[in-house]
Amino acid sequence: MNAAAAVLCGLGTWLPPQAVTNDDLARELDTSDDWIRSRTGIGTRFVAAPTVATSDLAVEAGRRALKSAGRDAVDGVVLATTTPDRPCPATAPLVAARLGLGTVAAFDVGAVCTGFLYALATGAGLIAAGTAGSVLVIGADTYSRILDPVDRSTRAIFGDGAGAVVLRSGGATEPGALGSAVLGSDGTGSELITVRSGGSREPLHTSGTDTGTGGPADPYFRMAGKAVFRGAVERMADAALTAARRAGWTTDDIDRLVAHQANLRILHAVADRMRLPRHRCPVHLDQVGNTAAASIPLALAHAVATGTLAPGHRTVLTAFGGGLTWGACTLRWPALTPA
Ligand code: UT7
Repeated sequence: MNAAAAVLCGLGTWLPPQAVTNDDLARELDTSDDWIRSRTGIGTRFVAAPTVATSDLAVEAGRRALKSAGRDAVDGVVLATTTPDRPCPATAPLVAARLGLGTVAAFDVGAVCTGFLYALATGAGLIAAGTAGSVLVIGADTYSRILDPVDRSTRAIFGDGAGAVVLRSGGATEPGALGSAVLGSDGTGSELITVRSGGSREPLHTSGTDTGTGGPADPYFRMAGKAVFRGAVERMADAALTAARRAGWTTDDIDRLVAHQANLRILHAVADRMRLPRHRCPVHLDQVGNTAAASIPLALAHAVATGTLAPGHRTVLTAFGGGLTWGACTLRWPALTPA
């Protein structure tokens, strides 16, 4: 018996209401609209209110994805996030319960900015294995909670948000059927994107700031921007080309490359490395910044809303993030209405 394909049949997104412009940041930090736009392409990002956690964003996006799919039930929830509500337990069971999905399988996936693609591949695997007939895959992050308030290089980039898709069991040739995912990692680069303290290596004890490992605790997200930039371009481009090849597509066949929205210069460099016309690579980061695990579903919804992504488009998704991790996957874009 052939394994069932996972077919993308619903898409929903959610952004918190508070927009933070580059000028807003420039009032607080030594930065400028000109620097941020010219170095990243970002104009605005959204920030969750202090009382709002990742599960709140995930529930909103999940509810909309279910609506878009015309479903009120699924067999599993896979949530990609680097910013769970708490270190323990996972956030997905809470999201499943709040969505009224009952006692379904629910767990988190941690692959930083590649998280959505890892979660998508995991959801597809649950379907192929017969464990689930349908899965809600969510990418949700609240980076505003882990950014150092005085670090202009990360605060300029990241924003909060959530996006979700519904996968259902179907045939491999249907619109929306996911091709086999390309996934990779390189843990030798784990220091390049990190929240150093607060895990088992350097616990954050409630009583003080010293972790007992010889230095003060650092609970904030840190990124070695330049090294990450180079890795992102090479890994996203190469993973995208491998995924396309597996689907039997040449570069010319790729109608849309929906890449993790980290930096406009990265998007252009990825397209150039693949010899893909830049206009086939939709841009959303100008409006929302880098939303980590949420960036691909948010970019998909925006591309559909603006008419950039249409049913039948041979679409490649690709991402790169902390770990280091990267991935890509293909699908023919299905007819659906994002919610
Ligand atoms: O989502 C996961 C994957 N993430 C990424 O792919 C992000 C990849 N990296 C990047 O997007 C870029 O490396 C950044 C946007 C983070 C930084 O851009 P860059 O062109 O690589 O700048 P840089 O880090 O080399 O910094 C150049 C200068 C530095 O000043 P000095 O040391 O030359 O005096 C920074 O302090 O720019 C400074 N700088 C800023 N200046 C004004 C860094 N951030 C800012 C800022 N405003 N917001």
